[in-house]
Amino acid sequence: MPSYTELANQPVLSQPIYEAGRPIEVVAREFGLDPTQVIKLASNENPLGPSPLGLEAARRALDSVHLYPDGGCTFLREKLAQHWQMQPNQFVIGNGSNEVMILLAQTFLRPGDEVVFGSQAFVVYKLATLMQGATPVEVPMPNFRHDLPAFKAAITPRTKIVFLASPNNPTGGTDEPEAILDLARSLPEHVIFCLDEAYAEYLDASADLRPLILSGRKVVITRTFSKAYGLAGLRVGYLMGSAEVCGLLNRVRQPFNVNLPALAAAEAALQDREFVQKTKLVNAQGIVQLGQGLKQLGFHFIEGEANFLAAQIPQAEEVFLRLQKVGVIVRPLKSYGMTGWLRLTVGTPEQNQRLLKELAKL
Ligand SMILES: Cc1ncc(COP(=O)(O)O)c(C=O)c1O
Repeated sequence: MPSYTELANQPVLSQPIYEAGRPIEVVAREFGLDPTQVIKLASNENPLGPSPLGLEAARRALDSVHLYPDGGCTFLREKLAQHWQMQPNQFVIGNGSNEVMILLAQTFLRPGDEVVFGSQAFVVYKLATLMQGATPVEVPMPNFRHDLPAFKAAITPRTKIVFLASPNNPTGGTDEPEAILDLARSLPEHVIFCLDEAYAEYLDASADLRPLILSGRKVVITRTFSKAYGLAGLRVGYLMGSAEVCGLLNRVRQPFNVNLPALAAAEAALQDREFVQKTKLVNAQGIVQLGQGLKQLGFHFIEGEANFLAAQIPQAEEVFLRLQKVGVIVRPLKSYGMTGWLRLTVGTPEQNQRLLKELAKL
């Protein structure tokens, strides 16, 4: 009798496991801690909590959860269109930006296709690629920075998608807007360029690829409500691109992929400029605070402007464990080929101080 494993589709067996940041309640139970005293600086979430406008809208929407959500995400697409000065049919809304990347892969990739991304890139690019039986082409990242000329050199007639995140996760480095534009313009017509801007709200200047989309180049942009808008638990993200590419992704998308409170929250949060501004400010101060603290402790880290820092810390795996015992959750980067590195999400000033104090003690 064949086992389930023998019956499974081949790509499933080669899927790397996505290692998420450990939840507060799980760590608290494992180490016998009071969950209210545990801090999570592991998943690049917003330490200020959810956007207040978003939260209020989600609460109101709960009264209507006996109804299906608007499968067309009409109002959110209209609001995004206004926000970006694009058309509503140039957006696809996903259950996190994670989902729109999977939709992109499902829509376009087949065995034999190649997908180009950095050697230390967000792991979902690889998961999505392998699941379609396509081939990941990982471009080495010297000093954990993108080598964009090497991206260009990696393009072949088989390349279907190029993924680039700026700021990049897990390294935190950012690419110059001009360099990103140059890469996007240089790609041949059979290649789709996906710029992942999950952390772009934290930057002072990011690349604006909308003119390329409007001029018909195969460029898509992904964004999320999980970070600067503080809605990670509701799962909303989106892709911006041509009406044609959005129409194709919409055929693959589940009819009700984004839930009702999430849609309401995202619509309201998009207007919450004050919250996003405050988030950006607190983060910029936190990056300085964490950076200075790490320097004082003698730890090397990658300079960045996202809401996290990757730091090289001796015996990182052991430190990861010992920090949990004292109620501080961070993220080891071994699975990204960065043994000896931890990724530290920027918290509130108090949380950052606590992390630095515990690191100093260790
Ligand atoms: C670079 C990058 N892209 C995309 C995502 C996906 O975020 P979400 O699915 O919550 O929108 C993340 C999440 O951490 C990320 O780091």
